[in-house]
Amino acid sequence: MKADVLLGLQWGDEGKGKAVDVLAPSYEWIARFQGGPNAGHTLWLDGKRIVLHTIPSGIFREECMNIIGNGVVIHPPSLLHEIKELRKHGLNLEGKLLISAKAHLILPGHRLLDQAFESAKGDYKIGSTLRGIGPAYTDKYARHGLRYGDLVGPQGETLFQLAHDEHLRQLKALRSELPLDIANQVREWLDTMAELLTDFAPSDGSWLLNQALDSGQRVLAEGAQGSLLDVEFGAYPFVTSSHTTSAAACTGLGIAPTRIGKVYGLFKAYCTRVGSGPFPTELLDETGDALRSAGHEFGATTGRPRRCGWLDLPALSYAIRLNGVHQLIITKADALSGFDEIKIAVRYQGLDHHQSPYPDRPTDCIPEYQSFPGWKLSPNQSYSTRQQLPPSLQSYLSYLEDQLNLPIRWVSLGPERSQILESQIDGTHAGI
Ligand code: GDP
Ligand code: IMO
Ligand code: MG
Repeated sequence: MKADVLLGLQWGDEGKGKAVDVLAPSYEWIARFQGGPNAGHTLWLDGKRIVLHTIPSGIFREECMNIIGNGVVIHPPSLLHEIKELRKHGLNLEGKLLISAKAHLILPGHRLLDQAFESAKGDYKIGSTLRGIGPAYTDKYARHGLRYGDLVGPQGETLFQLAHDEHLRQLKALRSELPLDIANQVREWLDTMAELLTDFAPSDGSWLLNQALDSGQRVLAEGAQGSLLDVEFGAYPFVTSSHTTSAAACTGLGIAPTRIGKVYGLFKAYCTRVGSGPFPTELLDETGDALRSAGHEFGATTGRPRRCGWLDLPALSYAIRLNGVHQLIITKADALSGFDEIKIAVRYQGLDHHQSPYPDRPTDCIPEYQSFPGWKLSPNQSYSTRQQLPPSLQSYLSYLEDQLNLPIRWVSLGPERSQILESQIDGTHAGI
């Protein structure tokens, strides 16, 4: 068997949580491979909103094992909180959630350093979620990091103290004031870590997943953030600190490239972005406000209003190329329902069709738009085939398939599990 990958093609928040929850019954394993609690993956189950940050989005499916891979960074108090929230929904996670021993940890000092670095940047700040992601990955690659499995046994607390003291030294050098409750934060961190280790022994994620594939089980790797936030290929430095593209599923889970199967690329029918950085199709007018309110575009992790704009075809083509996408999933076409005119940026001025200047000159790009007639979806109708959709939405989907040369396999039309249709794959794309 091969592992499939599902990831976001834009700046995150494309609806990965919902899509993974919908596809999970076809898989025995759901595996997160990068990022950490900066992610906010929303599931709506029977009218209840659940936001997952570190736990994979297959957790509500009885038959799925969920694994936090070695490429993820874990903040123990946040993870334990997430686990407790899920227990309130009646979920028993023991034996259903596995944590890779090699996953790196976010320490209290990482969060304080994240804050200190952002404050020092002033107007040039990245707009980080301030969850300590950057400093935790920095320590990982500088080989100062602590991993989930390192905290087992009596030496764990000593290792923590050494790392924490180093963070205190760095914070002092930055003249950053420590919070008054830092001692409590440290105690809470160590206590939650101990509780996690009791309930979730560190796992050899790579071995388990390869064994699963060998025995014919199906694995879905769940991306976090989006391709345009990739540390290498996003508009650096306005990116996150991990690789968010499909290649990261290999290193973040310990699966060889030859074992990667299908890559599902997810995108919204428009664009959103949280935090700073280039956004060529951003709408700073009432249309942007209308998109935000129609799509309820407020961050699932920080609650910040998301910047909104039209769909950006050059950026989408770029992300498809980086990831080797086989099939597309479009979300939130329902949020555009009622707009008279819908636009798509089809190229950037002076550049070839679909040529994208990312990440070299992203601030220079001036998008050229094509207009499409809007559509109106009926809130009382459930759409189960593409043919039932309004003709203008059908044309919009066909246009995108032609331009991107890929099939749109699923069309998501609302946040609930049932609000998705598997679209017919026409002859030109058959066989993928
Ligand atoms: P993720 O980070 O990619 O998992 O996405 P988020 O959960 O941060 O943001 C996506 C938001 O859109 C969530 O509130 C979802 O419940 C919601 N959502 C997902 N798919 C759809 C859809 O097709 N239509 C609408 N209206 N909302 C959706
Ligand atoms: P999901 O998985 C949207 C953005 C932040 C900021 C930049 C760096 O829910 O799609 P970081 O906290 O990593 O230092 O922030 O990346 N960002 C996200 N934006 N969705 C996310 O995750 C994000 N995770 C990070 O807003 O601009
Ligand atoms: Mg999100």
